[in-house]
Amino acid sequence: MLYRLARTGFFQLDAEKAHDLAIQNFKRFTGTPLDLLYRQQLPHRPVECMGLSFRNPVGLAAGLDKNGECIEAFDAMGFGFVEVGTVTPRPQAGNDKPRLFRLVEAEGIINRMGFNNLGVDHLVENVKKAKYSCVLGINIGKNKDTPIEKGAEDYLICMEKVYEHAGYIAVNISSPNTPGLRSLQYGEALDELLSELKTKQADLAEKFGKYVPLALKIAPDLSNDEITQICESLIKNKIDGVIATNTTLDRTIVEGMKHGNEAGGLSGRPVQSRSTEVVRRLHEELRGQLPIIGVGGIDSYVAAKEKMMAGAELVQVYSGFIYHGPALVKDIVKNI
Ligand SMILES: Cc1cc2nc3c(=O)[nH]c(=O)nc-3n(C[C@H](O)[C@H](O)[C@H](O)COP(=O)(O)O)c2cc1C
Repeated sequence: MLYRLARTGFFQLDAEKAHDLAIQNFKRFTGTPLDLLYRQQLPHRPVECMGLSFRNPVGLAAGLDKNGECIEAFDAMGFGFVEVGTVTPRPQAGNDKPRLFRLVEAEGIINRMGFNNLGVDHLVENVKKAKYSCVLGINIGKNKDTPIEKGAEDYLICMEKVYEHAGYIAVNISSPNTPGLRSLQYGEALDELLSELKTKQADLAEKFGKYVPLALKIAPDLSNDEITQICESLIKNKIDGVIATNTTLDRTIVEGMKHGNEAGGLSGRPVQSRSTEVVRRLHEELRGQLPIIGVGGIDSYVAAKEKMMAGAELVQVYSGFIYHGPALVKDIVKNI
């Protein structure tokens, strides 16, 4: 009820302004009685995944809190885990505005933010200050001006800096808004990247005396053969988890709608069935060898359940959270 009211106000604003205002408010309310506006007590639904203990299987997907500014607010909402980022080695402004659009009739979002973020050092400082009890994922990427052949270096820089502070590290090679990034999902490029990350993980595990799992985040726009190849590479390189999916380039479902033709990645209800399909396909290929985190269009308990029936052990929400607020987390956790 409260969220529906707030949403009416926020949806009058330009989508990015509304996002920035929400982040500012979450920051301002943290540690004050005003956090009662979103704090909720949820039943305990513990899950073990990637060697970590989650209080429940519902997470916040990457991109909402790119700089790790509001971890405590999302923790207070009861998320089992919060994934901050995508963060890059150096700060970058992202693409020109406007770059974020609501497709209200479809409960979708199109974004071409382009990894706008304040850089990995800034994120680490925020994480160090935060007090939270959920699992923290840190999602890492590459700077736009780093040539794709040197992309691995950016991931390694980020990994080194976030390792000590992360519950798990998500490797984002599936944003459609960084030119060339998705090419890392294929063949030798993927194999080389995963092998370098795995070597780095072993070094850092020794250095910090702590094993931090690595999860690869993939796109929904992959053929069955490409998914098969990715699975082979994940298994071969002993990656700890896979996050499926990022946003889609496909516009079939939103054709003719307001903003339906904006460039960027489409998320929310229009990507729901495709990302569930990818989860199902991954599950068939992986057969439990590594866990799947399902994300894409989860807007209800039923949609979360569908992802889990398809093979996801954990789920994440982004667009559904924008449309339904913290009550969505409660709905899923209560009924799971
Ligand atoms: C505005 C916006 C920004 C996003 N930024 C990122 C990002 O920085 N890194 C990332 O891995 N995914 C990012 N995503 C993708 C989401 O994490 C998620 O994978 C995708 O939106 C599908 O889930 P949903 O339908 O619940 O939104 C972003 C999504 C949106 C809508």
